[in-house]
Amino acid sequence: MATITPITTTPSSSSNEPLKKNKKQCLGWIEWLRGWFHLFYEFLFQRIMASHLHNPMPLPPINDLTCIVTGSTSGIGLEIARQLAESGAHVVMAVRNTKRANELIQKWQTESAGLVDLLSLDSVAKFAEAWNARAAPLHVLINNAGIFSIGEPQKFSKDGYEEHMQVNHLAPALLSILLLPSLIRGSPSRIVNVNSIMHHVGFVDSEDMNVTSGKRKFSSMVGYSSSKLAQVMFSSVLFKRLPAEAGISVLCASPGIVQTNVIIPDFCYNVGSRSTLFAATDPQISEYCELLKSDEWPVCAYISHDCRPANPSEEAHNLQTSFEVWEKTLEMIGLPSDSVDRFLEGEEVKCRYGQEQQ
Ligand SMILES: NC(=O)c1ccc[n+]([C@@H]2O[C@H](COP(=O)([O-])OP(=O)(O)OC[C@H]3O[C@@H](n4cnc5c(N)ncnc54)[C@H](OP(=O)(O)O)[C@@H]3O)[C@@H](O)[C@H]2O)c1
Repeated sequence: MATITPITTTPSSSSNEPLKKNKKQCLGWIEWLRGWFHLFYEFLFQRIMASHLHNPMPLPPINDLTCIVTGSTSGIGLEIARQLAESGAHVVMAVRNTKRANELIQKWQTESAGLVDLLSLDSVAKFAEAWNARAAPLHVLINNAGIFSIGEPQKFSKDGYEEHMQVNHLAPALLSILLLPSLIRGSPSRIVNVNSIMHHVGFVDSEDMNVTSGKRKFSSMVGYSSSKLAQVMFSSVLFKRLPAEAGISVLCASPGIVQTNVIIPDFCYNVGSRSTLFAATDPQISEYCELLKSDEWPVCAYISHDCRPANPSEEAHNLQTSFEVWEKTLEMIGLPSDSVDRFLEGEEVKCRYGQEQQ
């Protein structure tokens, strides 16, 4: 298994600059070119870079862990859930297709399922409320479910948000915050977000999270990459807001570029699950996150597809935008801006979603 060593790259200068008056409207062309370079580099060399890893990934003893995995009925999430369950963890499949989940549960016999549709923030809030009501510890939350609707026109959820932004960022953010009481109970615990190398070509305008202002032309690429960058930015602020004593690590993991519907998709998903499994179970992760916190590193831990610590994009280091994305996200998901502090104090926090009668 790969070992963790601190990142040696220095943070971008933007993290240390005073707040800029002129708001950035898009990525600079050098940043944009660098982003595409990262993407093509990973596409071309990922097999070589990850050749030191075993397949499937051997996991440490995890019999005592309770893990929630979203989107675990197919693809990378299914592999993550299967490998965690086979290694002895109690896995909760947080999915919208409960029929398929129950078929898998019967096959694996160690799991349970809960209904969550990330296109409905009500559904996310109700899932979290039901889970917290168990008063049981949660050790690992894996926000895996995601969409990339290639070539499709812009679509909006019933909550009124662009679908990539909602499924890939807003709903996982709501789930992470609402599950804090259970994660505190399970401390040391982890939130692992399945992110993407494509965040390197993303740009987030906190005043235009739905890409409707006309300042940028929408495409599925814009929707997907922006949502993945928003997730890194939000995770970085969450990571900062959680004191080391809370014992909750927040990470993003990139699965690599996993080609689906090709000759051996199972093998690909197996490979794509490794960085997340590593982030969720490696014993050195908490220590590594604490190290980043004590160094006041501007971004949360980011684990690359080859299970090595990586540096997220230059734009992800933009603290001004990250705090704006944090504030805007909390507003969009219907939570007060001091939610984290209040959860840490053991207070009840009301969310705008999940309130009406079922
Ligand atoms: N594949 C890649 O090359 C790649 C690269 C970088 C990052 N990723 C990330 O890896 C994660 C998993 O992707 P994948 O390739 O395994 O994709 P996938 O095979 O399409 O699986 C996506 C999972 O997300 C679930 N999901 C989608 N919309 C949902 C919703 N509204 N509510 C609840 N669950 C929903 C799906 O459930 P249903 O079966 O019910 O639709 C499915 O289980 C995503 O976050 C993706 O962005 C993938």
